[in-house]
Amino acid sequence: MAASNIEVWQLGTVVEVEKIATDVQRVVLEPSLPRKAEPGSHIDVMVRIDGTEDRRSYSIVESSEDGTRLAISVLKAPLSRGGSVFIHSLLPGDELEITQPLQNFPLRVGAGRYILLAGGIGITAMINMARVLKNIRADYTFVYAGRSRAVMAYLEELQEVHGENLVVHVDDEGTPLDVHSLVDSATEDTELYMCGPIRLMDAVRRTWTARGLSYPNLRYETFGNSGWHDPEEFIVKVPRLGLEVPVGKGRSMLEALEDAGADMMFDCRKGECGLCEVRVLKLEGTIDHRDVFYSARQKNATEKMACCVSRAVTSPTGLASEASASGPAVVTIEVS
Ligand code: FES
Repeated sequence: MAASNIEVWQLGTVVEVEKIATDVQRVVLEPSLPRKAEPGSHIDVMVRIDGTEDRRSYSIVESSEDGTRLAISVLKAPLSRGGSVFIHSLLPGDELEITQPLQNFPLRVGAGRYILLAGGIGITAMINMARVLKNIRADYTFVYAGRSRAVMAYLEELQEVHGENLVVHVDDEGTPLDVHSLVDSATEDTELYMCGPIRLMDAVRRTWTARGLSYPNLRYETFGNSGWHDPEEFIVKVPRLGLEVPVGKGRSMLEALEDAGADMMFDCRKGECGLCEVRVLKLEGTIDHRDVFYSARQKNATEKMACCVSRAVTSPTGLASEASASGPAVVTIEVS
């Protein structure tokens, strides 16, 4: 059966681990309730961070026809919330709780033309889509951008499979991606699918909108794990509930508020749906908007934030905010 969004948890047994690029670990799992994974699907994994359990989403990079083996590839990000460090610690024989494949990023077959854009480890969300487009002989360009070849997982295999359809941009070789040229190459009937750092996706989204291209033709996957600033510990206050809660580097504001007993609304926990929005009453610092839900204009505002992914940081410029010189950023909010 194909992937769906009905959440079924199962055991996944680690059967292989392999380093496939700098700081990128490929982990092959055998699920106890196998289910075929469609292109664009992911699994949620229960990870253990500092003795507590939390869930993370990872794209399925490879899946056998019957779903009895699937692979994820994960970048170890020292500034991440800790899930990637857990994945890198796995060994063959380990068992973990995983969902059956979930689908939030389906590939629509039938567009006149496709651009697939992967930034860094975002490649993991695009590999299966590219394979399908090649198999159905679609008109597609697969763009893969990274800092250096050493950190670009799957690069050689993809060059072999996709040949001239694969366009590679490598920052340290002086061939960085030019977002304007990329979006200029899109025609009215082009669908662009992307996954990568939020700065890249934000730039594409703004250029796409400025060019007047159809917004439904722009599709993206985000796992809410990259921001404009490095994560810092900050304080969240909810006066109505009498709460003052520290949010550590490895926790989201939503998780910290849940731990403190607040009854929070949420759905995607990835910065996509807006359901976890909180109203900001006072800000001592700067909001690091990490969602893809708000428009660029809304992100410049400081009245609301998606608390599942967005954070507060002390003012990076030291100019614009009311941040105190020494303490952490403080955000005072109202929850719905
Ligand atoms: S829960 Fe969906 S944006 Fe936060």
